[in-house]
Amino acid sequence: MADRYARLRARVDGLEIAGLRRRLRVVEPTSATNARVDGREMLIFCSNDYLGLSAHPDIKAAFVGGGGNSARLVSGNRRAHEALEAALSETFGRPATLFPSGYAANLGLYTTVVGRGDLAVSDALNHASIIDGLRLSRAERTILPHGDAAAIPRSATLVATETCFSMDGDIPELQAWTGAHWLAVDEAHAVGALGPQGRGVAAAQGITPDFVVGTLGKAYGAAGAFVIGPPELRELLVSTARSFVYTTAMPEGVAAAALVGLKLASTERRERLCANAYRLRRGLRDVGATVLGDAHIIPVLTGARTMEVAARLGDAGIFAPGIRFPTVPRGHERIRLTACSEHTDAQIDRCIDAVARALAAR
Ligand SMILES: Cc1ncc(COP(=O)(O)O)c(C=O)c1O
Repeated sequence: MADRYARLRARVDGLEIAGLRRRLRVVEPTSATNARVDGREMLIFCSNDYLGLSAHPDIKAAFVGGGGNSARLVSGNRRAHEALEAALSETFGRPATLFPSGYAANLGLYTTVVGRGDLAVSDALNHASIIDGLRLSRAERTILPHGDAAAIPRSATLVATETCFSMDGDIPELQAWTGAHWLAVDEAHAVGALGPQGRGVAAAQGITPDFVVGTLGKAYGAAGAFVIGPPELRELLVSTARSFVYTTAMPEGVAAAALVGLKLASTERRERLCANAYRLRRGLRDVGATVLGDAHIIPVLTGARTMEVAARLGDAGIFAPGIRFPTVPRGHERIRLTACSEHTDAQIDRCIDAVARALAAR
């Protein structure tokens, strides 16, 4: 009998040959900034846990209760979901709807608000979940060169952008993105970390986008995500968004932990995050690294040497994996460093030193 899975193995071999096979590591946190990675103690400089909350004792204590049980519309809706949605609605000023992940939130949002006959405009560097949501929506799509708000066509129904780009760390001036069209922003890397009360980039810039996606698994230290928008949007999401209706509710302990994260995401932590990001970025520039971004996501461009540089950082006890195609375009490979409010100056300086040595090594 012909080998049943030969065509799958051929693709795995193809990935290996192209240097694109990905491997999982076991990461066991030992503090807000450290973890054992495959058994080895390392300093973490790649996490999205920007405020160091995921290991906070109050968050850990909140992860209690039963499993997801079923979809929220069936028998999965708990008081913890309602309490979290009420708190998010109050914080962000409009109704919030929970999703089990940011990926599901973007799928739910875009398939709900646009469809055949609409023109959806998407920044070229938008996250895969925005791209997939727009593809699934069946709207006609135009991809804008990254950051080029001037190229938004007049006929656009909706424009989608991230507010702190996940792989580039840059922040658009949202005023330029507003107009007669709807503006949908993904604040996954901004909520909790940036803006007044951690309400993100739009709040910091005094803009009210039509639709906002925020995540609970990054600065808020838990997991899951939410969509903010007008009351009509919430009604539609709950009744029709397939990634809301046809999926098991997030476990109540996750909702309870996210509510604790929302309360723990303090201005003091945000200020420390901002100071640490500044120290890390300035230090990397001082040692000659090519660094992108405006905030706590600090990509160091490494090109073809990415995996080698990541391995050297690992040898120096710094955990920050290489980012390659297809996550970023070919030729734009990088080490995506992230600052955390809980990093000490000594830890940041150790990271800068390790990057300088890794880049200089041949
Ligand atoms: C910009 C952006 N949107 C959405 C997501 C998806 O969020 P989640 O991890 O909660 O699925 C991510 C990353 O994970 C992201 O970087």
